[in-house]
Amino acid sequence: MTLTAQTAQVTVRRARTSDVAKIREMVAPLAEERVLIAKEAVAYYEGLQEFRIAEDPAGNVVGCGALHVMWEDLAEVRTLATHPGWRGRGVGHILLEQLLSDAAEIGVTRVFCLTFEVDFFKRHGFVVMENQSAVDPEVYSELLRSHDEGVAEFLDLARVKPNTLGNTRMIRTVRA
Ligand SMILES: CC(C)(COP(=O)(O)OP(=O)(O)OC[C@H]1O[C@@H](n2cnc3c(N)ncnc32)[C@H](O)[C@@H]1OP(=O)(O)O)[C@@H](O)C(=O)NCCC(=O)NCCS
Repeated sequence: MTLTAQTAQVTVRRARTSDVAKIREMVAPLAEERVLIAKEAVAYYEGLQEFRIAEDPAGNVVGCGALHVMWEDLAEVRTLATHPGWRGRGVGHILLEQLLSDAAEIGVTRVFCLTFEVDFFKRHGFVVMENQSAVDPEVYSELLRSHDEGVAEFLDLARVKPNTLGNTRMIRTVRA
């Protein structure tokens, strides 16, 4: 994808603790619409090292995204969000590319997402996941031990069904 000059000025960096307030601000309206999962502030601090931040030349946070490792070969792209005023300018693209490169760097070979943004993820090589065949039964039973809501959504557990309604489960491979 060719980036416009405007987007080219946006850079992606690791998140800092001082970004948490901005991440929460961006997530809040999306969580209200049930597009993303709302989390307590402490969860963002605990998960901070999973996050990448997109910022404009003035240092304003214009997007964020995280890569959450689930298993040896499997991770989830989560909390990918572009500030509404910056959508459609390639910010989501550069964030997702960075998260996929992070996945490859740490040895993950498959990346999952649960999303309403099916076309966006399709354009980035994701395909719709038909069923649970992406994980073998042994790994499935290990993942059941997780307390993470996103993992429960990946497993499509009954208790999280209200959160996942209308979302599409997608997955792609990455080259390590
Ligand atoms: C999904 C999301 C992060 C995409 O962010 P974005 O910054 O708008 O993404 P991009 O600009 O890279 O791409 C969006 C569209 O803009 C277009 N576009 C991308 N770069 C462009 C550019 N430089 N100039 C013009 N248009 C461009 C693309 O055609 C793309 O279309 P597509 O969505 O059909 O692929 C954003 O829509 C969002 O925050 N959604 C709510 C949260 C969410 O659902 N997250 C996903 C689940 S974790």
